[in-house]
Amino acid sequence: MSEINTDYIIHEHDVVVIGAGGAGLRAAIEASQNGARVAMICKSMLGKAHTVMAEGGAAAALGNADPRDNWQVHFRDTMKGGKYLNDWRMAKIHAQQAADRIRELETWGAVFDRTPKGKTNQRNFGGHTYPRLAHIGDATGLELIRTLQEKGVHMGMDVYMEYTVRRLFQSDGHVTGCFAYDRNDGSLHVFKAKTIILATGGITRCWAVCSGSWEYTGEGHALAYWAGAEMGDMEFVQFHPTGMIWPPSVKGILVTEGVRGEGGILRNSEGERFMFNYVPEMYKSEFADTEKEALEWVDEIIAGKLASVRRPPELLTRDVVAKAINSEKDAGRASEHGGAYLDISWRDEEQIKKKLPGMYHQFKELAAVDITKTPMEVGPTAHYVMGGIKVHPETQESTIGRLYAAGEAATGLHGANRLGGNSLSDLLVFGKIAGENAAAVAADIDGFTEIDEAEIADVIAETLAPLNREGGENPAKVVEDLREMMQIKAGIIRTKTLLEESMSDLDNLESRAATTSPGGSRIYNPGWHQALELSAMLDVSRMCALAALHREESRGGHTRDDFPVPDHSHWGKVNSVIAMNEVGEMSIEHRRYPPINPELKALLDAADLHEEE
Ligand code: FUM
Repeated sequence: MSEINTDYIIHEHDVVVIGAGGAGLRAAIEASQNGARVAMICKSMLGKAHTVMAEGGAAAALGNADPRDNWQVHFRDTMKGGKYLNDWRMAKIHAQQAADRIRELETWGAVFDRTPKGKTNQRNFGGHTYPRLAHIGDATGLELIRTLQEKGVHMGMDVYMEYTVRRLFQSDGHVTGCFAYDRNDGSLHVFKAKTIILATGGITRCWAVCSGSWEYTGEGHALAYWAGAEMGDMEFVQFHPTGMIWPPSVKGILVTEGVRGEGGILRNSEGERFMFNYVPEMYKSEFADTEKEALEWVDEIIAGKLASVRRPPELLTRDVVAKAINSEKDAGRASEHGGAYLDISWRDEEQIKKKLPGMYHQFKELAAVDITKTPMEVGPTAHYVMGGIKVHPETQESTIGRLYAAGEAATGLHGANRLGGNSLSDLLVFGKIAGENAAAVAADIDGFTEIDEAEIADVIAETLAPLNREGGENPAKVVEDLREMMQIKAGIIRTKTLLEESMSDLDNLESRAATTSPGGSRIYNPGWHQALELSAMLDVSRMCALAALHREESRGGHTRDDFPVPDHSHWGKVNSVIAMNEVGEMSIEHRRYPPINPELKALLDAADLHEEE
């Protein structure tokens, strides 16, 4: 056997940003603007990110479509949508700063749709009291990425495309760098850094039906956990109610909530507009409970008037709509291929093509359905994780010194359920804050910390190990089995039995993963990449299953069939915190955020807080 080449290349940057979606780009821009020498490490190509799957818009209380909107209402909606498990300090910062971030994006060249008076247009989305989503047709995330990318590449940052980061290095309780390999040629790289920002997005490739593409295997979450960071609320996974379900090859692809924002109606196999049956108590005063009332809303939409009537139930929060579609299926009233019908065809054809051009082409090309004439078939798809790396609300620093997180990789803002459109504003607001703070801290550090040679050798050996194994399974088969298992046992509906099974299944899958043999060489070898990705997928899946097993209630993106109602007296007041203990095991505890300040509390709906319990 020829000698294995373990040479590596050393890079030095003040701030290393891992992840090149909206949060990473926004953080990198800010860090560069603050004088830092920045590296962006992308697992895929620059700008190919789940950010583009936030199609329908970015939520910000600009007050253009309805002047009654303001940051206080946005704060209230975000907390209510998150079922009050949000870090209220982040929800406040987000609501207050989102509008400035959108305006800033416009000055950088983002071309938002306009109102007749030339202002940035805003559309309705689930859980938002007023039309609040600044949008570009149904391709908002794409335009956001394009704008940030154009701004970013002129800032002089170094971009490392198609690199996967495998480990964070630390010394004296803070990060000092990271190790990565180049997915194209298998070369090995050590990045010395003064500060690091994790902006790696989510984990939803751990479920068989998801809206994300191959990148979303949870490396950022896993890297932080392996480094000893605290992880929060990992049980809360958002199943977006409307993914494509037919044909099978496109199952999971997102159907933007913008369809419902523009008046899309959900019906079951019996033609019933079933969402009227699922309006939760906490939303009864805000949502129409009869078709007649919902039609008044439609009249207003068409007339382009202010929303003065109660919203239609299709615009309830995503957790509610996804569970309703699931319940209709369980009751034997699913659409032909197991979901629900989503109908926008009652609207004028030209309007549909103008407002939802992406959806029009997506259904025409992928499903041979003309949505201007025929309802779409849709069903829930894993879309987003509310859980992630715990961060300081004002700096975005994790519980590990000099390690920051932003966007979907971080947790806190969204509580138990994220409102649609809040992800784009989240990544703009907190990407900026992370970049600013990471740059400021880096500026005060002289030189780079030496990285222990033994640790570098250790991670290189671990990275190359799958290539030295023979006769084992194909890693793709283990990945497939993991995704199927998570779909069934830690999916939209969970039970103690299923979750316990998932934990022992994960142990079995881990044993199988340890012996996979992808074959081939280091030169572009997707099997090798998957063998490595499995370590992250297994640990993030375990975090989700463990947190879900402990939370004995149903709330937001976590539904327990054996505990079907929310428990406001205990679980409604505590967040899950997972970390690795001294002996390397995953441990869990539950904690509260500090009490909300009285002024902000006054903005919330008192009855929802269940303080007497
Ligand atoms: O449905 C959508 O357009 C997705 C938006 C989001 O996740 O924020």
